[in-house]
Amino acid sequence: MSTIFKILRFDPPKDEQPHFQEYIHTPKPGDTMLEVLKDIRDQQDPSLSFRYSCREAVCGSCALTINGEIGLACRTQFEALKTDVVVIEPLPNLEIIKDLIVDFKPFWDAYNYIQPYLQPEGEAPPKGHCVDEKDMEEVYQFITCILCGSCYAACPVATRDGRYLGPAALAKLYRFAIDPRDKRPWPALARVDNPTGVWGCDTVFRCNDVCPKEVRPADGIEGLRRRMVVGRTKHLFGRKK
Ligand code: FES
Repeated sequence: MSTIFKILRFDPPKDEQPHFQEYIHTPKPGDTMLEVLKDIRDQQDPSLSFRYSCREAVCGSCALTINGEIGLACRTQFEALKTDVVVIEPLPNLEIIKDLIVDFKPFWDAYNYIQPYLQPEGEAPPKGHCVDEKDMEEVYQFITCILCGSCYAACPVATRDGRYLGPAALAKLYRFAIDPRDKRPWPALARVDNPTGVWGCDTVFRCNDVCPKEVRPADGIEGLRRRMVVGRTKHLFGRKK
């Protein structure tokens, strides 16, 4: 069935404002929205720009807004949309570089800020750090994040305050805070004990709703809040973490 695809186009400085361009296209049975975009680009308009890589919900690069819903283009089935007009826009909360490609700098800055790597104490044992499977159960939920930026784009706090670290970075910090191998000192956690960190969250759970990997970043933020309260008390009595 022929469908109208209204795709947001923007190519600064040539374009002064973003605008919608319409394409008529007939998707093949089973097409994902990524395949639709590729076909439109290949058959109608080679200037159309969008990101993708793995095509199987692993790399996180194809997150978009499709008919107002944030999601991965490679995981969104065209037929599931059940409409003959599809509006495709880039992720909100991030500046457009070109068409559907946005600048992830604020997202990556926040991610770097939380020091997203294991910080064990002392030298690693010869056979590496052994961890009980049970101790890792809660950690696994947060490891599945593919850094697609959907949660950041959906977050109303990030919309109104560009300094807010956002759900992905905070959830990743929680992932390390609960890892038994991570011994980062209290000041490394306390860096988010403020309104641009864990206390900025509105707890509206949009991040949980849009996450394509069911990470539930808001759970991590809640967990960090509990750690902040406990950590402050411990720190008062001179304990490291
Ligand atoms: S192309 Fe990699 S997640 Fe969609």
